Amino acid sequence: MKKILVIYYSQSGQILDICKSIFNEKEIPSEIEITYKEIKAIPEYPFPWTANEFFDVFPESVGLKPCQINNSDFNINNDFDLIVLAGQVWYLSPSIPITSFLKSEEAGKLLKDKPIVTVYGVRNMWVNAHSKTKNLINEIGGKIVGNIVLSDKNNNLVSVITIVRWLINGQKEAKGIWPAAGVSKSDIENTGKFGKIIYEKLINNNLMNLQKSLVENGAIEIDYAIMKTELNGGRIFNIWYTKILKEGNLTPKQRKRRLNIFKNYLYFVIFGVSPFASLFFKIKKIIFNKSAKSEIKYYSS
Ligand SMILES: Cc1cc2nc3c(=O)[nH]c(=O)nc-3n(C[C@H](O)[C@H](O)[C@H](O)COP(=O)(O)O)c2cc1C
Repeated sequence: MKKILVIYYSQSGQILDICKSIFNEKEIPSEIEITYKEIKAIPEYPFPWTANEFFDVFPESVGLKPCQINNSDFNINNDFDLIVLAGQVWYLSPSIPITSFLKSEEAGKLLKDKPIVTVYGVRNMWVNAHSKTKNLINEIGGKIVGNIVLSDKNNNLVSVITIVRWLINGQKEAKGIWPAAGVSKSDIENTGKFGKIIYEKLINNNLMNLQKSLVENGAIEIDYAIMKTELNGGRIFNIWYTKILKEGNLTPKQRKRRLNIFKNYLYFVIFGVSPFASLFFKIKKIIFNKSAKSEIKYYSS
């Protein structure tokens, strides 16, 4: 018997739907047992968010500052053969509850020396967050053997608008010209193939080439222009977060003022700069196709 532990955090339940589709109950082989454990933030983050709450988690997300979580739920027997860590990205970083779990003593005990598959349900920018997650996992002695990313495949600016509609106004469903927000239902339903690959590799003790098979079956689809825009954004976010938290003890008024400036900057970059950046990187990909391909390959593996 091979035992898989799925550790997840999700506000809307999207990532749980993704995991339940990857590990479709009707198709779990008799040699596999799956346990689910949910990370809960204490207190819970709001959902839907107000605009202020949404921007308020920026510095702590980027700075990897943990919040309180239900640690005691993870004080469990560590006899798992594979850990699946499933979550989302907040501000090009792992969401605060995921960071908090990875920084907890319990994660150290559960993940040390274990093969780990990461699963993300995101808008479309996850590369920076995955690098940060990888570092946190390396620090506690775990080893990432696979990565599955599900994202919103709509145009970048359309998905910004629909995700705000969803996360701040609570409207996920399609309306008028706007498609439904988040990962599409058909993409979620199409993930059972990843579960089958994981079972096969796990049962045959062959996890080391798991990612290659996952990528061959579409577990990672990278848009070069979005990836490059994100990588630049990640560097700029680091500067912003350090500036916002610089003097340590900010009064709520000072913090709000700084976050307001950041908010305006972000809107300007998303709607004013990113379309041009995207065009620039699309042209760059055509001219430097070989190096673009090798970068895509690097971030896929
Ligand atoms: C505060 C916040 C920041 C986010 N930042 C990003 C981001 O940088 N990149 C991205 O692809 N998605 C981003 N998202 C979308 C989430 O990754 C995720 O897809 C969405 O919140 C649904 O997650 P859930 O499983 O918790 O419901 C953000 C969401 C929130 C709440």
